[in-house]
Amino acid sequence: MNNMRLTERAVQATDTKITARKVQVHYGASHAIKDVDIDILDKTVTAFIGPSGCGKSTFLRCLNRMNDTIAICRVEGAILLDGEDIYDKKVDPVQLRARVGMVFQKPNPFPKSIYDNVAYGPKIHGLVRNKAELDEVVESALRKAALWNEVKDRLNAPGTGLSGGQQQRLCIARAVATSPEVLLMDEPCSALDPIATAQVEELIDELRANFSVVIVTHSMQQAARVSQRTAFFHLGNLVEFGETGQIFTNPRDPRTESYITGRIG
Ligand SMILES: Nc1ncnc2c1ncn2[C@@H]1O[C@H](COP(=O)(O)OP(=O)(O)OP(=O)(O)O)[C@@H](O)[C@H]1O
Ligand SMILES: [Mg+2]
Repeated sequence: MNNMRLTERAVQATDTKITARKVQVHYGASHAIKDVDIDILDKTVTAFIGPSGCGKSTFLRCLNRMNDTIAICRVEGAILLDGEDIYDKKVDPVQLRARVGMVFQKPNPFPKSIYDNVAYGPKIHGLVRNKAELDEVVESALRKAALWNEVKDRLNAPGTGLSGGQQQRLCIARAVATSPEVLLMDEPCSALDPIATAQVEELIDELRANFSVVIVTHSMQQAARVSQRTAFFHLGNLVEFGETGQIFTNPRDPRTESYITGRIG
């Protein structure tokens, strides 16, 4: 871990973007998330770490109501975005997901062209006035995702024809194209090589100038490099949450310490 970098990126006083209180998630009879309270800050990268099956993806999906799409999944408790309950009946989940975008563990491009994958969101949400503006948004999103140079000559080719790592960067471009306020990333680099991983980490750092980013990662080096705050989950509980430097150098809970030193996981 590079402590110098952590110090440079010390947490700045920022507003709370998402507040979660007493969140419980059940899949049928199985209790996957237990009484989680967390405040996700604006303009900050928050990392979720913890052993496989501890509930990181489940909790992440609560933050943009992606669990609504899983029939046996039941979410209880309160989740507020800028102080407003995202589970309120008047909230349209599709609109919510434009504000709280998501990149999944497995790349899932639409069966459309590279261009249309990125253009889809800005078009349906009315973010552009004409084709020239749309072209600009598409190019800028592909550049941010470090994919532009590889695809600029084949924008009309199908997105599904790209390599796995390229497909993941396409999904990142698709997510940033709508300028979400919060970007949820579930192990976004697991299909990427070290060069693309470094590019995505750079992008995450740029994004936090404007957005709040929540990233699930199995790489503690990655969490230390990109995040200012880290949450450690274990068996559905949020065990410890704090400044990333503190979590990695001076964890307060023995379970966090065991995990970061490689004794559980
Ligand atoms: N769609 C689902 N239906 C039923 N149970 C589920 C479903 N998704 C997750 N679970 C269960 O919920 C618990 C938490 O899973 P989750 O995928 O959130 O863990 P995770 O921390 O993201 O793990 P990993 O690091 O392996 O991705 C696990 O016991 C898992 O089996
Ligand atoms: Mg997961």
